[in-house]
Amino acid sequence: MKTFISQDYPQLCEAVAKNVIDCVNAKPDALICIAGGDTPLGVFAALVEAQQQGRVDFARTQFVGLDEWLGLGNADKGSCREMVWKHFFDKLTLRDEQICFFDGLTDNPQAECQRVDGYIGQHGPIDCIVLGIGMNGHIGFNEPGAALDMTCHVIDLDPITQTVSVKYFGTQRDVKQGISLGLKTILAAKRIVLMASGEKKASIVADTVHQPASNAIPSTLVKTTQRASLYVDNAAASAL
Ligand code: PGA
Repeated sequence: MKTFISQDYPQLCEAVAKNVIDCVNAKPDALICIAGGDTPLGVFAALVEAQQQGRVDFARTQFVGLDEWLGLGNADKGSCREMVWKHFFDKLTLRDEQICFFDGLTDNPQAECQRVDGYIGQHGPIDCIVLGIGMNGHIGFNEPGAALDMTCHVIDLDPITQTVSVKYFGTQRDVKQGISLGLKTILAAKRIVLMASGEKKASIVADTVHQPASNAIPSTLVKTTQRASLYVDNAAASAL
């Protein structure tokens, strides 16, 4: 896995955005997946700016969501849907059929998994996926120990993930489960961009690079493919 170290967060986001832009410019109807969470927020801003400047055109691009908290929807601050729409989709002019995103308010999570799997079956494999790294090494909501052969599925959230979630919601919410693309789908992507920023990610970034590839730390699994790259800023690279 190639590692790219940027000086700071803005440069990191520009580098990751360039990856997405290159992918869409080479294939305008590409299927793109970009994580929610804090890490990609600057990537969203860079991509919106690129579209405004005419450096990329998302008019034919397809987007699929990576994950969502079960029980939360658009009205819930910090849900993946709320974050991705606010920072990205609302700022582009997309048609509804260009987006397939988990509905965290579904009363039938299994059907929701099948719907998203069906969409990826129709438009996939994913051409470019941008992943954050959880404090426990999760990618999407594939928590430590996640099975390698899964497509979309419902997950019991790791206690670390539940604790960290307060930063999105601003308050403790009773989130026990998530719905996510599985490792099989993620690792089948044609281009995998793993990104991390900040000192707090330095330890898990070092584990991602130095620990053996295993689902004990899901982020290490991207090392099993030549199609993956790690993008970090200096702070996140500080324990490498
Ligand atoms: P973060 O989350 O980008 O908010 O740090 C990463 C993750 O949990 O995958």
